[in-house]
Amino acid sequence: MENRKNGLFISFEGIDGCGKTTQIELLKKYLDEKKYETIVTLEPGGCEIGKNLREILLFHKGYVSDIAEMFLYLADRAQHIQEIVLKNINEGRIVLCDRCIDSTVAYQGYGRKGNIEQINLLNKIATNGIEPDLTIVFDVDIETAQKRIGNTKDRMEKEGIEFHKRVREGYLELAKKYPKRIKVINSNQEIEKVFSDLKSIIDEII
Ligand SMILES: Nc1ncnc2c1ncn2[C@@H]1O[C@H](COP(=O)(O)OP(=O)(O)O)[C@@H](O)[C@H]1O
Ligand SMILES: [Mg+2]
Repeated sequence: MENRKNGLFISFEGIDGCGKTTQIELLKKYLDEKKYETIVTLEPGGCEIGKNLREILLFHKGYVSDIAEMFLYLADRAQHIQEIVLKNINEGRIVLCDRCIDSTVAYQGYGRKGNIEQINLLNKIATNGIEPDLTIVFDVDIETAQKRIGNTKDRMEKEGIEFHKRVREGYLELAKKYPKRIKVINSNQEIEKVFSDLKSIIDEII
């Protein structure tokens, strides 16, 4: 199904406030210094169409049904994988992607109690079978994450503690299910220690 060559596709996952953005920035600098060509991107919102979808997904004020939410994330992914991820992999770059397929399983599956088998199938359709070569899950306590985020929360971040607990558990389940692809880092640690754990994983694959 898939059609790709050369580059590397790495996704970063975990609940909001776990440190994805922080660590991706550090990793980009690290890889740039080593003269790798990298690109940082994100879901939702990594492509033009996705920017509009992100606005709805994170800031729409009214009712959004669970199924509609799932399809909006998948629409973003379908476009983003084709337009940004595949293109850059094929041009030999290391693609650092903030959230991807596992977010939909964790949030719409575990968080919203959706049907995970269905989500897996829909993810496959959206990505045309493209999967990250490596996925890092930054695992953090809900309380710690909430403290880091503070009060300015988007639509997903406004969900309650129980929701985020299920999402966190979902990620850990995924890591157990796909131990070759998904690596978990303890992100309760300080930024430098998290990054040092990240580097040792990355150094093994580049
Ligand atoms: N390991 C850490 N320890 C303490 N604070 C952190 C850590 N990682 C990130 N932060 C801080 O927490 C906030 C959220 O981090 P961020 O990287 O934006 O998380 P995410 O992108 O996963 O939502 C930021 O203010 C960031 O500086
Ligand atoms: Mg972020």
